[in-house]
Amino acid sequence: PDRVPFHGRHQAGILTPQQLFSGFAAFDVLVQDRAGLTRLLKELTERCRVLTAGVKPKDERTAAEPQTPDSLTVTVGLGASLFDDRFGLAGHKPRHLKAMPAFPNDRLEPARCHGDLSLQVCAEHPDAIVHVLRDLARYTHGMIRPRWRMDAFMNPSRPSGSPRNFLGFKDGIVNPDTASRAEMDRLIWVTPPCGEPDWAEGGSYQVLRLIRFHSESWDHEPVDRQEKIFGRHKASGAPLGGVKEDDAPDYHADPEGRVIPLDAHIRLANPRTRHTDKSRFLRRSYNYDQGYDRRGRLDLGLVFCGYQQNVQRQFATVQHRLRHEPLARFITPEGGGYFFALPGVRDEKDWFGSRLM
Ligand code: HEM
Repeated sequence: PDRVPFHGRHQAGILTPQQLFSGFAAFDVLVQDRAGLTRLLKELTERCRVLTAGVKPKDERTAAEPQTPDSLTVTVGLGASLFDDRFGLAGHKPRHLKAMPAFPNDRLEPARCHGDLSLQVCAEHPDAIVHVLRDLARYTHGMIRPRWRMDAFMNPSRPSGSPRNFLGFKDGIVNPDTASRAEMDRLIWVTPPCGEPDWAEGGSYQVLRLIRFHSESWDHEPVDRQEKIFGRHKASGAPLGGVKEDDAPDYHADPEGRVIPLDAHIRLANPRTRHTDKSRFLRRSYNYDQGYDRRGRLDLGLVFCGYQQNVQRQFATVQHRLRHEPLARFITPEGGGYFFALPGVRDEKDWFGSRLM
């Protein structure tokens, strides 16, 4: 049960129920030509295949607990910068892939943004994440150089429902239905006809945002104010006016926002109209906690992670709707990037990006 299959039409780690721990890392590619890039992608494939299977490695030096698969998934994405002259891939770039732009409330730090390659490593134990990064560092030595990394985790849920983020609210309550193939083909996977290059079919746009919380300011807000900002009750997670966290808000019955304010986070993020349905996407975010910063403030936040068929139609549209939300005052996006999560590795003979190269 704790082994997530590596082979398939799509990569693991996207529809996979969220493991407790994650490491997000982005790298620049150092190899200079197409042959080098092929070597790198094949090496990555081989290591991910071996590591996620949890088999005993030939070399035990880097291994912590190599025999436990630990629901380990490694999800590989490519950044827009990889599709340039170095590799002659310019004509093959996924149509909507570009460097993540700075949105109005962002204070992006260049050293914590973008990258040629992204890795999302998830598992039920933190040492599994570190083990994978060490193994990959060894096997890809000289081929990639780290740019940034964020480790993050889920707060295990308490008896009543979804886990909470560090603003104290239940998070991850509403998402597209990962059990519905039709919904996934419509919202998450690149599925023809969407004008994408053939090789990209089965992949997904990955958005990473390193979002810092201003928890000191947040903690000054009365709870009823916090609840209006999100549109949900803090204790139960139910939409305002509701009882259970999975109650659906009825915006039709509340056109003036007397119950759930018109600028509440959940209402702007998903207005639940026929017209906005196509902007929904899959959220798979994790919390981070890095102690105090140099000025003595808590360094807490969210590694916001989203997957979708079209980053413009989905994430960017939702982000635009959220631009003036009251929550914006309590958060600052500081890093991240847009990546294209590759289609799955089909079988033993296949490798990451085989149809691209
Ligand atoms: C829902 C927190 C940023 C999109 C929620 C919920 C919380 C939350 C507590 C309600 C529970 C749930 O349905 O999961 C946060 C925090 C953020 C953040 C603390 C920043 C630090 C974002 C961003 C986006 C986004 C940047 C997209 C651009 C959504 C969506 C929903 C949601 C689509 C579901 C709304 C629904 O379908 O009812 N978020 N969020 N969130 N958030 Fe965020």
